[in-house]
Amino acid sequence: MAKKLWGGRFSKKTNPLVEEFTKSIQYDYKLAKYDLLGSLAHVEILSKSGYLNADETKTLKGGLDLLYARLESGKIKFDTRNKEEDIHTYIQNELYREVGDVSLKLHTARSRNDQVVFAAKWYVKMAALELTGDISKLITAFYSLARKYKDVIIPGFTHLQHAQPVCLTDYLFAYINMLERDIKRLDYISKNIKITLGAGALAGTPISAQEYQIKAEEFLGEVKGLKAAFNIETTTNSLDAVSDRDFVIEIISALSIVAMHLSRLSEDLIIWSTKEFDFIEIDDSFCTGSSLMPQKKNPDVLELIRGYSGRLYGNLMSVLTMMKGLPLTYNRDMQLDKEPLFNSFEIVSKELKVLTGLIATLKFNEGKIDEHLKDESLYATDLVYYLVDRGIAFKEAHTIIGKLIKYSIDNGIEIKAMPEDKLKYFSDKFVKKEIVKLFDPKVSVESKKSIKRPNVLGSLNVTLGKM
Ligand code: ARG
Repeated sequence: MAKKLWGGRFSKKTNPLVEEFTKSIQYDYKLAKYDLLGSLAHVEILSKSGYLNADETKTLKGGLDLLYARLESGKIKFDTRNKEEDIHTYIQNELYREVGDVSLKLHTARSRNDQVVFAAKWYVKMAALELTGDISKLITAFYSLARKYKDVIIPGFTHLQHAQPVCLTDYLFAYINMLERDIKRLDYISKNIKITLGAGALAGTPISAQEYQIKAEEFLGEVKGLKAAFNIETTTNSLDAVSDRDFVIEIISALSIVAMHLSRLSEDLIIWSTKEFDFIEIDDSFCTGSSLMPQKKNPDVLELIRGYSGRLYGNLMSVLTMMKGLPLTYNRDMQLDKEPLFNSFEIVSKELKVLTGLIATLKFNEGKIDEHLKDESLYATDLVYYLVDRGIAFKEAHTIIGKLIKYSIDNGIEIKAMPEDKLKYFSDKFVKKEIVKLFDPKVSVESKKSIKRPNVLGSLNVTLGKM
């Protein structure tokens, strides 16, 4: 095992099983960049508060800059063979190899307990920002689809049963709405995360709060042009600072909601792609086949997205459960928040990317959709409104149309095909030549005036032009 950040009080070597069991570098290497940036900030603070002289400061900054550049250029490779306990130890040891004994001063007034929170918070902010970009790309793909199929009307569903005709764009915009809420949620959580300095292991450090505040802000303001994303301040409670993992739970919760949205979208698309529905054609390049049945074209991508939502919820549950019984302050259990955190971002990011491609190449079978729109039951509610407009109470009209539909089903006669006297048997308000006009998806959709749609589709057809 590599050199540890501790060991003086021990008279025996650590059992290799313990080393293997406790190490986290195989996954927390993802925090390397943020740990380095935190270390650069810390050098500045140590220097300003007199713990480092000018030469030491220069050497340490030079060493950390070198490691940063090496990391950015991909020259540092992490894998399970890394011997260090965690990424914080790795960086300390690498720095020692580069600059020697002066590196031993870097850990002055510092603990991995506050280092790990600093780095994880920064990671979350950056990952959330990146994910927001992925969500925006999917939204853009939805917009293109909405523009392409702006005139299409489809059967709308409740309980997965034919309900009423709706604009396809309304369906697409429902998903855009969900994704926009996701962006807002991620942004809100990210903005709310305060990166704190000065907690030490749990009890604070001998460096003044003012020093942390002034110097950290100043330093981070310059660092790698990332100021805008940051919200950094001296800790107001060092115990909470090292033991708070709310930000991990909040972000995984928001990611779980994104995954749930993508899973619902996938479910709609899976159903729509069946022979029974045949609303859509998923591009060949986004489907897979069967090893036995040559005819199969399966929506595996969508099924995996649906399945992965379970992973996300599992990740959320694992961190919530891990945290629930922990006494203040830091406990090693908290190390186990990393894999669920990284894994959740990784899954959702992959899902968004593959879905963007799938949505961009999706085709709607307008002919097949029109076949489905012939189902008269879709217009039953419009028939109720017809009677209501002619003075019949809604409840009564509802019963009349219910009976009419039942008669139609039981006798295998379309309402449109019924003679006027048969219609009048159900209500004397029925006028056949008026009724037949109601079995029209466009008429049905246009009769709904309550939706204040966003006017974002450019030049629109008659139906949507009324928005
Ligand atoms: N790898 C640890 C984690 O992620 C860092 C903190 C270790 N602190 C300690 N006192 N053992 O939580």
